[in-house]
Amino acid sequence: TAFQVVMNKIELGMDLTKEDILLLLKTESKKEIETLYGVADRLRREIVGDIVEIRAAIEFSNYCKKSCNYCGIRKGCDLPHRYRMEEDEILEAVKDILSLGIKTVILQSGEDDYYTTEKICSILRRIKKETKMGITLSIGERSREDYLKFREAGANNFLLKIETTNQEVFERIHPDNDFDQRLQCAKWLKELGYVNGSGNMIGLPGQTVEDIADDIVYYRDMGIHMIGIGPFIPAPGTPYENLPTGSVEMTLKAIAVTRIVCKNVFLPATTALASIDADGQRKALEVGANTIMLISTPDKYKKSYQLYKNKNMIDIQSAIDAVKGANRRLPKYLKVTSKEGI
Ligand code: 5AD
Repeated sequence: TAFQVVMNKIELGMDLTKEDILLLLKTESKKEIETLYGVADRLRREIVGDIVEIRAAIEFSNYCKKSCNYCGIRKGCDLPHRYRMEEDEILEAVKDILSLGIKTVILQSGEDDYYTTEKICSILRRIKKETKMGITLSIGERSREDYLKFREAGANNFLLKIETTNQEVFERIHPDNDFDQRLQCAKWLKELGYVNGSGNMIGLPGQTVEDIADDIVYYRDMGIHMIGIGPFIPAPGTPYENLPTGSVEMTLKAIAVTRIVCKNVFLPATTALASIDADGQRKALEVGANTIMLISTPDKYKKSYQLYKNKNMIDIQSAIDAVKGANRRLPKYLKVTSKEGI
């Protein structure tokens, strides 16, 4: 069958075409899906080993100047609490993370110009000086010059998701953004020597399976190192609040195919997946994912950073359990670690 032909190409180490990728994503056959998951799991073991990488994220501001239609902290949302963490508070949270044995911190926020280039650089320099941790920034679109300054101040990695490679869908869901500008930012980050993160949402309005196949080809062609794939989840108070949630199965298929196509990459078992399926992270880790991001935002701010409904809060205690390898939700054969990396 056509499915077996693609499986043979994988065994022979041949590059898959977009059509091959599409065929894998489209299969509805239980047996074929199981085969796909099995191959992705095996490749994950061969390429990155039986190890789950732990990352911790501090969501340091939920102010945002943009109004992305899906996002629960968009400018247009009338949130009861907008907050900003100051440098000292961020440093304290970073040190808490370090004390758990975690070696990379992700600093994420809305697109908030309160944090000037100088402010961000100052935070980065202090984290480097006081902890030597790997730093991942996830603060959206900025100028090339800013990205360069952040790099020089100590940022190692940058997460800027493409969300979808379909320009029409991208521009519909992002009324303030230009698709070409987003691509440009991703290219700048790569040129400047960042370890580059991207990702997409599954189940966006107007998105087709072809689009998801294109997303995966894009990650391969761009040499993306971390790829966060999660279901779209409607967020209350947004224009998309009544749209259907993305499919768990399509998300898992996309993760599996991405492992097969992109090989040596960090694939998070995303918080979004955990939020719509209590077993979602374990399932993802069994079909190619190898990374977990812990939300380490201080408790008093956590509930205000709701990008979508019922965001599943993985807390510090779970982090400790996970680092000790005691997280029973992980597949038994997987060990937990936190090396430096994106
Ligand atoms: N559903 C799922 N994921 C979302 N994100 C933001 N809003 C939503 C939503 N409603 C994801 C985007 C973004 C990341 C920080 O969170 O992929 O890049």
